[in-house]
Amino acid sequence: MHLQNKVAIITGAASGFGEATSKLFAKQGAKIVAVDFDFEKVQKVVDEINNNGGEAIATKADVSNAQDVKAFVDLAIKEYNQLDIIYNNAGIFIPGTAEEITEDQWDKVINVDLKSVFLGTKYALPHLKKTKGVIINTASAGGIIGFPQAVAYGAAKGGVISLTKATAVDYAADGIRANAICPGTGETGLTKEVLADENMQAGFLQPIPMKKFAQPDDIAKAALYLASDLSSYVTGTALPVDGGWTMS
Ligand SMILES: NC(=O)c1ccc[n+]([C@@H]2O[C@H](COP(=O)([O-])OP(=O)(O)OC[C@H]3O[C@@H](n4cnc5c(N)ncnc54)[C@H](O)[C@@H]3O)[C@@H](O)[C@H]2O)c1
Repeated sequence: MHLQNKVAIITGAASGFGEATSKLFAKQGAKIVAVDFDFEKVQKVVDEINNNGGEAIATKADVSNAQDVKAFVDLAIKEYNQLDIIYNNAGIFIPGTAEEITEDQWDKVINVDLKSVFLGTKYALPHLKKTKGVIINTASAGGIIGFPQAVAYGAAKGGVISLTKATAVDYAADGIRANAICPGTGETGLTKEVLADENMQAGFLQPIPMKKFAQPDDIAKAALYLASDLSSYVTGTALPVDGGWTMS
């Protein structure tokens, strides 16, 4: 097992990439603090982990709210006395060009997708210094290349990549590694509606050389690599997990 005796906070754990990562990390021996806005759903994920021999607790939080973020970091320490991994993964997508998107929508996307990563990093760092821990952030292929109608999302995810690199540089001497994952289009709650439309589905598939969408487990396996000693000399990367989309 790659994460024996580790304690991991995972945000957006009720669905998609965060759910799959919570289950995989638990199977690999980590104790999970599963965070989501949707408490009922995240509790179900936690129940499944605990019923299968893992160890996890669920908590409700808005990752863009500083008090909530501080509270789930404090909860991890109260329950498990240490923090080894924070996976800042929760996020939303609101489509729109610069003309279409409203100021409120811009603020919402930047707060949930970017400010949340700053807050999670900020409050986890004092504890990660003690364990020489790991930070993983979910960025996006949309933070590397421009894709249509995603002005706020692309800005937030590009920001996540830069924040990750800055943190990796600032805390390398403390033994902390910080990396981002850049998923391509994945089949999750975030894309359910858009991929239900056959034309949209074909459009999203077209630029992907591997001609298939990311499954939650594809991202969970990348997160396991970055969370564990398998990536012991890797920091400051933005790892595309995108079927070749951003290289083509
Ligand atoms: N699915 C894709 O195609 C894709 C591609 C690139 C990046 N991403 C990123 O992957 C991450 C995970 O998304 P997913 O695809 O698994 O989607 P998802 O919708 O299945 O899961 C996201 C989870 O985050 C939670 N969440 C949303 N806002 C929150 C908030 N303010 N506070 C707490 N929890 C909140 C939701 O309740 C949900 O459970 C996001 O950061 C997303 O931007 C997704």
